[in-house]
Amino acid sequence: MIRVLFADKPENWGRYETPLTEAIAATGVEAQIVQPDESDPAQIDYVVYSPQGPVQDFTAYTGAKAVLNLWAGVERVVGNDTLTQPLCRMVDAGLERGMVEYVTGHVLRYHLGIDATLAQQDGVWRHDDGVPPLARDRSVVMLGLGALGKACAEALAGPGFAVTGWSRTRKDIPGITCLSGDDGLAEALSRAEILVSILPDTPETTNLLNADTLAQMPKGARLVNPGRGTLIDDDALLAALDRGQIGHATLDVFRVEPLPPEHPYWAHPQVTVTPHIAAESRAETASEVIAENIRRGEAGEPFLYLVDRSRGY
Ligand SMILES: NC(=O)c1ccc[n+]([C@@H]2O[C@H](COP(=O)([O-])OP(=O)(O)OC[C@H]3O[C@@H](n4cnc5c(N)ncnc54)[C@H](OP(=O)(O)O)[C@@H]3O)[C@@H](O)[C@H]2O)c1
Repeated sequence: MIRVLFADKPENWGRYETPLTEAIAATGVEAQIVQPDESDPAQIDYVVYSPQGPVQDFTAYTGAKAVLNLWAGVERVVGNDTLTQPLCRMVDAGLERGMVEYVTGHVLRYHLGIDATLAQQDGVWRHDDGVPPLARDRSVVMLGLGALGKACAEALAGPGFAVTGWSRTRKDIPGITCLSGDDGLAEALSRAEILVSILPDTPETTNLLNADTLAQMPKGARLVNPGRGTLIDDDALLAALDRGQIGHATLDVFRVEPLPPEHPYWAHPQVTVTPHIAAESRAETASEVIAENIRRGEAGEPFLYLVDRSRGY
């Protein structure tokens, strides 16, 4: 019998109790799921972890075979000096679907000009604006082609958007123009009528969208950021919005969350703020991923979604 510590926020246990218990049982591994304070840390075999949970010091978990993050992003744990165990991040079908729906929805909103339509319910019949572009005439760029970025890129290719993706290592995804490296970034930015950033927060991605890179995008480009707030130099984005270089931004993630009420993004007419709701792990599907990694750990098989701590994601 192994011991699995559930170290998410205590209020989330109600959502996880049944699916996690059932998912682990379905793997054939005999496990007792315990809460913090219910067991000697040294006796814990796996820590189901969340950055919002009570366990942020792993020193006492001397027998733990892995720390299994319930979040896709690992920036709040990857640099934790007390973490000596393997760290796995969450790649969850429910999370992925949520991100695909968020990104597709906001890209279509920009593509169809829905904001302008809603603002023009004023009795004027505007039917002389020319033929609107089809998705295939619209260039959408995805920064990040990982579990989430790739799924979003493929979803956008569905209705025919001309999708370009950029990642650290070059990918080969049917229907997507894949770029990498500094030259690739310049090329991607230059074609980004709509830019979606789904990169992790690492030292290399911090302020990737800055005055210089925002200036490389077509004038009036739209930006959707469900990745991390640190990807954007906020002052540079506000300046680019004010001079029309960036036409509009939809931002889901911020350097400080909750976004403080006095932050200029809230009042900016060209910014839509969403409160970090693009995608959440779903207990049913996330439990299956956790259970599969526990099964792998017990069988001596390699873990899924192992974080490369030197890379930071
Ligand atoms: N807003 C929300 O609700 C929400 C929810 C979940 C996740 N997220 C965010 O989404 C991020 C991505 O998740 P994921 O599961 O798709 O991660 P992932 O599978 O690790 O993919 C990360 C992608 O970013 C690329 N990348 C990393 N560093 C780079 C660099 N310096 N230059 C160019 N490309 C780089 C990677 O390139 P390679 O493929 O070459 O490695 C990969 O394509 C998470 O880290 C998290 O911050 C947000």
